[in-house]
Amino acid sequence: MTAHAEGPRALTRRPGRLAAFGGPPAVPRDAAPARWPVIGEAERRRVTDVLDSGHLVSNTGVETEVDQLERAWAQHCGTAHCVGVSNGTAALELILDALGVGPGSEVIIPALSFIATAMAPLNLGAVPVFADVDPRTFNLSAEDTAARITPRTAAIIPVHLHGQPADMGGLTAIARRHGLPLVEDAAQAHGAAIGDRSTGSLGNAAAFSLQYTKNLPTCGEGGLVTTDDPDLARHVGMARQFGEELVRGAPRTHRSHIRGGNAKLSPVQAAFTLAQLTRFYAYREQRERNVTAFLSRLSALPGLQVPRAVPGTTHAWHILRFRFHPGPAAGAPEADPDRFRASLHRLLRAEGVPMSRYQVMPLPDQPVFAGARHRTGSGHPDTRAVIADSLTLQKRHLDPASGPLLQHYADAFEKVWEHLDTALRMAGQR
Ligand SMILES: Cc1ncc(COP(=O)(O)O)c(C=O)c1O
Repeated sequence: MTAHAEGPRALTRRPGRLAAFGGPPAVPRDAAPARWPVIGEAERRRVTDVLDSGHLVSNTGVETEVDQLERAWAQHCGTAHCVGVSNGTAALELILDALGVGPGSEVIIPALSFIATAMAPLNLGAVPVFADVDPRTFNLSAEDTAARITPRTAAIIPVHLHGQPADMGGLTAIARRHGLPLVEDAAQAHGAAIGDRSTGSLGNAAAFSLQYTKNLPTCGEGGLVTTDDPDLARHVGMARQFGEELVRGAPRTHRSHIRGGNAKLSPVQAAFTLAQLTRFYAYREQRERNVTAFLSRLSALPGLQVPRAVPGTTHAWHILRFRFHPGPAAGAPEADPDRFRASLHRLLRAEGVPMSRYQVMPLPDQPVFAGARHRTGSGHPDTRAVIADSLTLQKRHLDPASGPLLQHYADAFEKVWEHLDTALRMAGQR
């Protein structure tokens, strides 16, 4: 019996043969591919303008596109300061450095994130302490965070994973109680918000990535730090430039006041992002429409947990993560999550849906932390369950023209769901 065996459609239409077994794929081979980033005349012109200007770095005392982008993004976030840096990982490291995180410090981060969230404290000689995530939002659990605070805790990094703002209300209460700073990892959450407050303005400081796959991309690598704290902004500004203090319009003094490296953003990268920024809000609105239409079709499928914005928040829809629990819905017991996810992965990909995993293990299981588990913490059952039973859609839905492609993907999901018994059989469940 399939999940739809009693639905009206089952009476009128036999499910098409699965592409994995020789049937035609649900996503036509000639479906228009999604592009990301969308590169137009504006990007080309702004980048060549920089090349023609000769101002290819941001430390010469001349106003560049980096200054313009910093002003524009601070305005978007509603923060007093924005500092352009070389990438999102450097943004995190520079913020933690400014907060005094170093050897002997512990920094609480979610067990489910990109490795950079863990590398930032590690690279400063601090210990990342992993807390579990919420099984629906995939974001740092405030309860587990509270349980992992010690006298050595120096900061908490909520990650707005996949574009869903973290539980900043719960985490702010905990941080205030313990006098700890909150550092937003907003690498995946440009344009997300809680109420009318943008990500980037919800903690002591925030790190954004401009890496080309992000919702606000550059043509390569880049990052932005936002904060209301003038001392933190000044520290980041100096630490990205060998510890020097540059004053716009004044000659460089070549005096290093603090420890620092070279983590500057290039005017070429900033110029590309400035061009993207002119279409950012229009893209965000169109993406919201496309993704909502896609998810509303999928939410009708039994046993499929589709992403949803937490009420009162704006989701940036950077990545779409789906969890699978169709066993009971198909009249079968709960399937082995790993094997069932692997079966669906194969079937969906064959239909032309480029599903992929996002993180194949909880961060504390990464080889770099082997042997340190007693320090970094253990457990994380919700992170483990999410990684075992979910797949993600990445990048394809970012293009505002991807609406029709997403509808083909929805066709593919519906088709595979009409063959749930096959998927369960492949997973050894039947
Ligand atoms: C959650 C998260 N944090 C940090 C980063 C690091 O950003 P970057 O790649 O710009 O260094 C990323 C990038 O993928 C990310 O997804």
